[in-house]
Amino acid sequence: MKLYYSTASPFVRKVLVCAHERGLDGRIEQVATKVLPTELNRDYAKVAPLMKLPSLECDDGLVLFDSAVICEYLDSLGTGPRLFPPEGDARWRALRMHALADGILEAAVLTRYETVIRPEPLRWKAWIDGQLLKVDQSLDFLEAHVRDLEGLTIGTVSAGCALGYLDFRYADRNWRGGRPQLAAWWETASRRPSFEKTVPRA
Ligand code: BEZ
Repeated sequence: MKLYYSTASPFVRKVLVCAHERGLDGRIEQVATKVLPTELNRDYAKVAPLMKLPSLECDDGLVLFDSAVICEYLDSLGTGPRLFPPEGDARWRALRMHALADGILEAAVLTRYETVIRPEPLRWKAWIDGQLLKVDQSLDFLEAHVRDLEGLTIGTVSAGCALGYLDFRYADRNWRGGRPQLAAWWETASRRPSFEKTVPRA
């Protein structure tokens, strides 16, 4: 399988953590791919029309996107306990955490584009504040529901990637402040080899 990736993307990290946890990392060839909203990668558009990372070319040639779909695909291939619980309360709690963590990442990545790529005179403070409010409120929700991060599921993988991205790009915002349980959870979870091997790099 071929994974189109960048070392900084938290959505790519989520896929790589799932691959490690499912014992599939040795089957994935990584293809470094540059995507930026302002520099359209037309070659990559032939693989993935949204030109977003990651995408996965399966062994039979089928190309999958986006990260949620790829994670579920990898989960269907690997061995051992599933990251996507098959049914019941555990399933909905894991999927809810997955959606929340992806929402944190979408807001954080969009804000990064707005504050780093967009020329300063064009930046829109009210919009940035709105995105960061979504991040902060979602972190508060994670703190209040930290018990849902017990065990290893797609929810905990995604939450870890979201917190790791905040450490990578928003270290100055101190997300740990006032969220001691979430901070303690990530302190332990981040020591899993799957997270240690996939720390984001610029
Ligand atoms: C980043 O550099 O922060 C980044 C790179 C790729 C996707 C998302 C974020």
